[in-house]
Amino acid sequence: MSSPCKLAAGSVALPGAVYYDATTAMSETVQTMLQTNAEAARETEREADPGFLWDFWYPAVRSTEITGRKLATAMLLEVPLVLGRTSDGKAFAMRDSCPHRGIPLSYGRLDGPVVECCYHGWRFDACSGRCLEIPSLTSQDKLKVERIFAGHYPCEERDGYVWVYMNEPGARLPETIPAAPALPVFSEKYKITHLACELPSHVDHGIIGLMDPAHGPFVHQSWFWRSRHSIHEKEKQFEPIPNGFRMSKHSPSTNSAPYQLLKKMTGEPVTTTIDFVLPNQRLEEIHSGKLWFSSRATVTPVRRDLCRIDFVAAWNVVFLPVPIFRMFGKTFLRQDQETMIRQAEGLKHNPQLMLIDDADRPAKWYFALKANLIESRRAGTPMVHPMAEPVTLRWRS
Ligand code: FES
Ligand SMILES: [Fe+2]
Repeated sequence: MSSPCKLAAGSVALPGAVYYDATTAMSETVQTMLQTNAEAARETEREADPGFLWDFWYPAVRSTEITGRKLATAMLLEVPLVLGRTSDGKAFAMRDSCPHRGIPLSYGRLDGPVVECCYHGWRFDACSGRCLEIPSLTSQDKLKVERIFAGHYPCEERDGYVWVYMNEPGARLPETIPAAPALPVFSEKYKITHLACELPSHVDHGIIGLMDPAHGPFVHQSWFWRSRHSIHEKEKQFEPIPNGFRMSKHSPSTNSAPYQLLKKMTGEPVTTTIDFVLPNQRLEEIHSGKLWFSSRATVTPVRRDLCRIDFVAAWNVVFLPVPIFRMFGKTFLRQDQETMIRQAEGLKHNPQLMLIDDADRPAKWYFALKANLIESRRAGTPMVHPMAEPVTLRWRS
């Protein structure tokens, strides 16, 4: 199992090592004991806090997965969910567990707006989780059925995904919750496509991999994108935005063929803006004249050792057919996925890691944003943004 990120900036340490003064003779037994204790302590720490950000929307399944009377299942932040669509078309998400004996409700059946458990037939309103009927009760029974609830979560559909608002376990749902995220689009007509892939990693590794500018020339070497030899120094301006940061509007890298083509098409400059927003979104907008391309990648924690990238892109660039884009997109995702599978192999041994300037500065901001958000929620104070002002970063890629 890979662990939530614990990265020591700029330091290298030997994992699991116990250091002691060589003059103090320490028996092998004692040393082993210390090591085991240290490992156990680290293990408990990890178990206690999986490092998830609650009280945000996360994509659970694609809208196309909940059709008719089908019940779909998903896991978000280690919470098992059952999702479906009521007979009048409203998507719902419940905890996939019957409050009676815990059997997954997904083994039950959907009947209009009601989910019926397969074990004793308790019936629940799918959208509110409220219990409507317990078939075993007689007219003598005093049990207040309507006071029993199955776990349920706010649910919205956007951009072809069913989004679920994961409020913190045991906490009350806030009075008002923000709207679910929506991909920015810039004309009435456009093409849209979705891709997904799972990564055997903690969400933090998925996210810092997503925002990492330095792996491109090594991981994404492709004839259509760039070669390892095209590596050159870059300078990009970043600015703080609420809950995140933005790579300010700029002309994208000249060593990428698609951008050159776009420029030739419109005869106008190409600009791109990339945002990262908590908990897990990377948004990119590319414009050239009237042509635009907009994409969003989210990295969603499934379990502490598994996350999923959901990628959606929309564009009005006529020369870019969906199947061609999907072919390139899948190649990119597969390259990232293969790298993360290899990384997970190394992370099993719980190594100390490094974040270096400037290429890993976005990753540092991510960890700082996350920590500051958690702290502001704990203290009930406004969140302190880790960036006081715009910053220029330089790296080679
Ligand atoms: S376990 Fe669901 S009704 Fe009994
Ligand atoms: Fe990548």
